[in-house]
Amino acid sequence: MTDKKALLSVGDQSIELPVYSGTAGPDVVDVRGLVQQGLFTYDPGFVSTAACESKITFIDGANGVLLHRGYPIEQLAEKTDYLDVCYLLLHGELPSAEQSQKFRDTVKNHTMIHDQMSHFFNGFRRDAHPMAVMCGVVGALSAFYHDTMDFSDEHQREIAAFRLIAKMPTLAAMCHKYSMGQPFIYPRNDLSYAANFLHMMFATPCEEYKVSPVLAKAMDRIFILHADHEQNASTSTVRLAGSTGANPFACIASGIAALWGPAHGGANEAVLTMLAEIGDESRIEEFVDRAKDKNDPFRLMGFGHRVYKNFDPRAKVMRETCHEVLRELGLQDDPLFRMAQKLEKIALEDEYFIQRQLYPNVDFYSGIILKAIGIPVSMFTVIFAMSRTIGWFSHWNEMVSGNYRIGRPRQLYTGPTKRDVPDQ
Ligand code: SDX
Repeated sequence: MTDKKALLSVGDQSIELPVYSGTAGPDVVDVRGLVQQGLFTYDPGFVSTAACESKITFIDGANGVLLHRGYPIEQLAEKTDYLDVCYLLLHGELPSAEQSQKFRDTVKNHTMIHDQMSHFFNGFRRDAHPMAVMCGVVGALSAFYHDTMDFSDEHQREIAAFRLIAKMPTLAAMCHKYSMGQPFIYPRNDLSYAANFLHMMFATPCEEYKVSPVLAKAMDRIFILHADHEQNASTSTVRLAGSTGANPFACIASGIAALWGPAHGGANEAVLTMLAEIGDESRIEEFVDRAKDKNDPFRLMGFGHRVYKNFDPRAKVMRETCHEVLRELGLQDDPLFRMAQKLEKIALEDEYFIQRQLYPNVDFYSGIILKAIGIPVSMFTVIFAMSRTIGWFSHWNEMVSGNYRIGRPRQLYTGPTKRDVPDQ
């Protein structure tokens, strides 16, 4: 905190407001006192609003920097794995070898779901979007853990974290199996986190399924790159839901619902749909022109970001991973990847995108890797939700383990002023 002050003059009012500095990023003006002056701030979309204080993730959008507890995402993607990143986001430090092993062993003890939960799936149509199913079954976890609903107890919060980290892959794979009409595959505790997920996705009871180490590593890399991202729309949803005292399973379900939108986590699915609609490199210019046309709702999916006005560092790592996976699979001439690279090149050289600082974001290349791994397009946002669960939980945990108030924004009211109902 600092002793800086901001002076606000409104009409004949002159208001002094405290200004705080963090360890990095912009200073913030504390506007909490404005309501006593009969004033609100106005910031639809929260473009200039810091909704909370946090120590988890820092983004420098102008310079394309993403730090988790101070560690650059590029280094975490290169040197760690997803479960170590989960530990880091939750506890603030990377685990020692002993802490890491204990964390993994505990996660493995929670990978199965209550057998009763498998009946929930039968209520859905086989062609239900898996994000609709995930909203339902993750929220339904609340119905199974009454023994750990006192979240003022740190130990109960920790058990909830393990349950969510461990069960999300199991539930996600069940969504896929249900849509295929195939039997659910139980988790395998002899496999790594990512390999276990791929095994549950693609194995069948009929024969041994060997998980490719290359694909397991790519899957784990994708989990790392999607783990957390400051106060994005779905994380803010989780924080707001949590501020009412709702349990973490219900809060995570609200995050899944918010992530589903194509402007947010649904963009990875929308990128593949867009590339399929473009169909051929010869039509790229046509679609870039549509993205620039204000009368056309079409946007270049996987491009642009509220915070990054430079390259999304995750997109760079994702593009390199894409190269690696496609080369390993002998798909380096994959037409989708070639078209995506051509689209990126054209957009980055176009004045419209340059002027608006629109760059590829995390969703632009992830879908191409997921498709190469064999994940159906409809499951792309489910993968994002699985990975982001640790980010959502870490922010919920940071909030509820400190002092917090229920979130309750106000508004600029422009509707009818008081009037009487006419006598009949
Ligand atoms: C994620 O917040 C996070 O951190 C999210 C995320 C995370 O990890 O949690 O990073 C994950 O959601 C990534 C974003 C995925 N979404 C998409 O790829 C969908 C396409 N992108 C856009 O819809 C858009 O860029 C947003 C939603 C990502 C950002 O929207 P903003 O910040 O509200 O920006 P804006 O809509 O005000 O756009 C500014 C200008 C506008 O033009 P002008 O009115 O100034 O003329 O840029 C244009 C927009 O029309 N623009 C685009 C565009 N994105 C912005 N034009 C064409 N194609 C695009 N993709």
